[in-house]
Amino acid sequence: MSAAAAVRSAKSTVLELATTVLPAKSTAFSMIQPTGVFHLGNYLGAVKSWVDIQNQTATAFPNSNDPSVPRLLFGIADLHALTIPKDPKSLRFTRSQAVASMLATGIDPSRCIVFQQSQVPEHTQLYWLLSTVTGMGYLNRMTQWKSKAQLDESTSLTDASESALSKLHLGLFAYPCLQAADILLYKSTYVPVGEDQSQHLELTRHICATFNKKYPGADKKPIFPEPKTIFAPFKKISSLRDPSKKMSKSDPDQTACIYIPDSPARIQKAIRRAVTDSQQGPITYDPVTRQGIANLLEMASGILQTTPQQVLKDIAPKDHKELKDGVAQIIAEGLAPVRTEYERLMKDLDYVDDVARRGSLRAREIAAITMAEVNRAVGLN
Ligand code: TYM
Repeated sequence: MSAAAAVRSAKSTVLELATTVLPAKSTAFSMIQPTGVFHLGNYLGAVKSWVDIQNQTATAFPNSNDPSVPRLLFGIADLHALTIPKDPKSLRFTRSQAVASMLATGIDPSRCIVFQQSQVPEHTQLYWLLSTVTGMGYLNRMTQWKSKAQLDESTSLTDASESALSKLHLGLFAYPCLQAADILLYKSTYVPVGEDQSQHLELTRHICATFNKKYPGADKKPIFPEPKTIFAPFKKISSLRDPSKKMSKSDPDQTACIYIPDSPARIQKAIRRAVTDSQQGPITYDPVTRQGIANLLEMASGILQTTPQQVLKDIAPKDHKELKDGVAQIIAEGLAPVRTEYERLMKDLDYVDDVARRGSLRAREIAAITMAEVNRAVGLN
């Protein structure tokens, strides 16, 4: 099935898409935490699909004044970032870095609303109202608070030790409820994210259904549409040091990640050190038994927008070293324009911050309309 057909006919709540044509009047929404520049997982798992969605939308709806043009919002989740405390000065800087990274990858502020979550107070207002219909049991099953609080996945609130609980802050535990508010505030219909967000999206749909049932809007119609998840072709990019784990900014070994403004030399060094396997004979693409090699091929194929099998054919490596050098070259060349643009934007932070300021004002206009409807439905106005 083609990507466009997949969206149009989607009955499922989770879509796997390479390129996406959104239906008229739909809303695509996503966010990223401002923990510095993006790594290749953020880029290939999420941000590149935002750019693809934007470009497909521009082609399908060339007249930007057409009222049925899908709405696209991409935000910096700075409130979420505070669930792991940050140095205030560095948070201000990393927020700007995140906006610059977004623009450098090709997000166009004349086609998308680029905004800072904290500048739209309606996120926290809706979060509170949604928290009143969100079961603790559901939040208890979420894995993120456990991994961030360094607790085992099987831990539950009732069996965590007193000392573990006193270190677990409410904000971290309730994080998915704020994420649901982010999405529902704009009546989002499509949410392009990496695989690690799928549990949060499931919870969002659950909260959406619960709220709609309890508080119908005018004419008894549901206030929030059900948001569907959109996955990029490579929804999980793995760590270069341990292919069984996802690539993550919090990895203490920084050679586990490639960042989008990395120099070709740094990319080559990180890829050369990547853990693969010691299997002799031809290099093959097998995501089950050869995870490290599959990850390298998938990264290169995400950059080239082709299949891992095609990348393997093109590089035709004799051995692991040739594979790594070929992949490093593809990634370095693919990221070169992004790096150049990122460096240019970082010298013009007034422009970068202004994009976010103007985007936040536009986001607030939409958010205020939803909140008026929500407040009426719950009896607050
Ligand atoms: P964050 O900042 O951790 O990641 C941003 C996006 O990058 C994707 N991603 C990956 N994809 C593939 N492979 C990887 N190794 C990888 N690492 C990260 C994530 O899936 C995500 O799409 N909770 C969110 C931010 C958020 C949000 C939202 C997202 C807050 N509110 C509302 C969507 C809608 C987060 O921490 O993403």
